[in-house]
Parts: sequence; C-alpha cells; structure tokens
Amino acid sequence: MSIGIVGWGFYVPDKILTNADLEKMVDTTDEWITTRTGIKTRRIAPSDMAVSDMAAAAAQRALDKCGLSAKQIDVIIVATITPDMFFPSSACFVQSKIGAENAACFDVSAACSGFIYALELGRNFLCNKKYKNVMVIGAEKLSVITDWQDRGTCVLFGDGAGAVILSEVKSGGIISCYLGSDGTQSELLFLPGGGSRNPASEDTVKNKMHFLKMRGNELFKFAVRIMADSAEEVLKQAGLKKSDIKYLIPHQANSRIIWATAKKLDLDESQVFVNIDRYGNMSSASSAVALCEILESKDIKRGDKLLMVAFGGGLTWGSSIIEVS
Ligand code: UT7
Repeated sequence: MSIGIVGWGFYVPDKILTNADLEKMVDTTDEWITTRTGIKTRRIAPSDMAVSDMAAAAAQRALDKCGLSAKQIDVIIVATITPDMFFPSSACFVQSKIGAENAACFDVSAACSGFIYALELGRNFLCNKKYKNVMVIGAEKLSVITDWQDRGTCVLFGDGAGAVILSEVKSGGIISCYLGSDGTQSELLFLPGGGSRNPASEDTVKNKMHFLKMRGNELFKFAVRIMADSAEEVLKQAGLKKSDIKYLIPHQANSRIIWATAKKLDLDESQVFVNIDRYGNMSSASSAVALCEILESKDIKRGDKLLMVAFGGGLTWGSSIIEVS
C-alpha cells in the first residue's frame, strides 16, 4: 500500500523582518547574519495570531489544492513547539477553524524534526486502512519564544505553517523514513520555563526562562554530522542511491549546515532546496513550507524523489524519501 501527498498548502505572515531591522534592535550587521546564517528576511506573526491560525490557513489551502472537504479528514496532526496553549492541542483548534468535525486531533513535539515525525505517524495511521485522509501540519510562532535582546538567537527564527494531506496513492508516495533522538543532549536547545519543571512565576519571567536557549556552536557540529548520517540511513533503508534523488529538502537552520550536508552527500547545489534566505528557521514549519514550495514548483514531475532531512531540539532527527505521485 502506497501513502502519498495529495494536497499541500502553506501560510506565512505578511510582516517581513529584515536584517536591517535587526541592526536597529541588537548589536549585529546584515553582513554577519548573511555570511554566518544565509538569512536575509523572516516573517513575524501579529500578536493576535496564534499557531493554529497559521496552521488552519495552510490546512485550508491544502484542502483547496486536492478538492477534499474538511469533513473527509480523519486525523489532524500538528507538529509544533509553540502550541496555542499547553492544552487543548493546536490540532483541536485547527479542527474547529476548518470544520474537520470527523477528525481525531493531536500535537507532536519533536522540535525542528517534528514535521518528519508527524509524516511518519500519518503514514502509519493510513497503513492500517482504518483511516483514509490524514492532515499533517508543521506550524510555529517562534517569535514568541525568542529573546529579542539576544543577538545569538534572535536573528535566526521566523513564523509560518505548512500542511499536507496524506492518502493512499496509485504511484509514488512515502518510500522510507528514519527517525532518531538523543535525550542526553537536551541542553543544547531547550526552553526551561513554563512547564512542570519550572512553572511560570515572577522569577521565571525575570530570568527570561520562557525564551529558547541554544548552544549554537555545539548544535552546529552535531547538525552537520547527523543531517548527512540520517540521509545516508534513509537511502540505505529505501535501497536507493544518492544519484536517485532529484532534490534534497534540508531543515533550514543555517545555510552553512545545508551546504556542508549537500557536500557530504555529493549533491549539486542545484539539487538543494533553500528558502532560509526568505524565512529563516521556522522549526517544524521549515520542512513543511519547503516541501509545499517544491511541490508547487514547475520543476517537479511524477516519479521525482525528494529527500527530506531535519534535526532539532531533543535532540531529534529524521529523514524521509518521498516519490512525487
Ligand atoms: O533548528 C535547529 C536550531 N538551531 C541551529 O541548529 C543553529 C546551529 N548553530 C548555528 O547556526 C551557528 O552556531 C550560529 C549562527 C548560531 C552562530 O554562528 P557561529 O559561527 O557558530 O558563531 P559563534 O557562536 O561562534 O560566534 C562567533 C562570534 C562571537 O563573537 P566573539 O566571541 O568571536 O567575539 C559572537 O558573539 O559572533 C558573535 N555573534 C554575533 N555577531 C554579530 C553571535 N551572534 C551574532 C550576531 N551578530 N547576531
């Protein structure tokens, strides 16, 4: 049984934050951000827009793309580390916004690898034949967990959402998926405040514990190794060669990580999809939006094989090979 993508859509907020804007906020330069990260602009959601608003907009576009009605969606999975609230899940809010009254809904927390984790979950739901259509969404409002006074992190992140609908397909589909985690490395990227370990208090707010903390250097080294290793692993599991891949869709954390991964995989620059210059790092939404943009491009045809690979907080990593249906 082949499970593939039948609909897709993404949403990014209108507001563009440029490197020039950031020069006025922290001690940084366009030159530093561009050469060290590849980022030029990122999108920032307005204060009255939560993750589920962006996710629902992307979800509606995915429905419109394939002509399914919201009532035909059996499961909604939202990968996010910036849910509207602890609970209910953002997926439940999306359900209510798009009118998917027959769907079972839940969120997945796997940081930047979240969309690939959710894709694999969605595929497994469909493989047991009980469900017909699964909506998988990666959505983040990272601007609310970013410390806008910390130049080491605030230049990196942005907001957005991407959605795909998975169903049984006659050809192509998700060929293989590889997931992994290393919980011993959780302190490389985490958000300490607001949970059951450090519940919200005056102190947690004063100590900026509701903003993400990152050890960028160490994460960078880990990323370069794990992105290539997990791409190699999923290729091996699929019985495919690097030369079978039309496009690499890497997580958009840093253009230097992206190019180092491409080099290790012997892929030509033209085979690597990059949107970090426009959107920055949107965590789980990065893979989702990149996949939507590539499926939308004229360059893609049935039978093309796409290799997605991501890493993130947890630490987590994941890779997936999708043949365009
Ligand atoms: O989605 C997964 C999560 N994120 C990541 O995977 C990020 C992985 N890491 C990275 O992308 C990179 O480590 C960063 C872009 C975060 C940092 O780049 P780097 O080349 O590792 O820089 P660094 O942290 O070693 O800092 C080099 C210098 C430092 O100054 P000194 O100590 O050499 O004087 C920093 O203080 O650059 C300074 N710096 C900045 N300068 C201007 C750090 N941030 C900035 C900034 N503007 N925004």
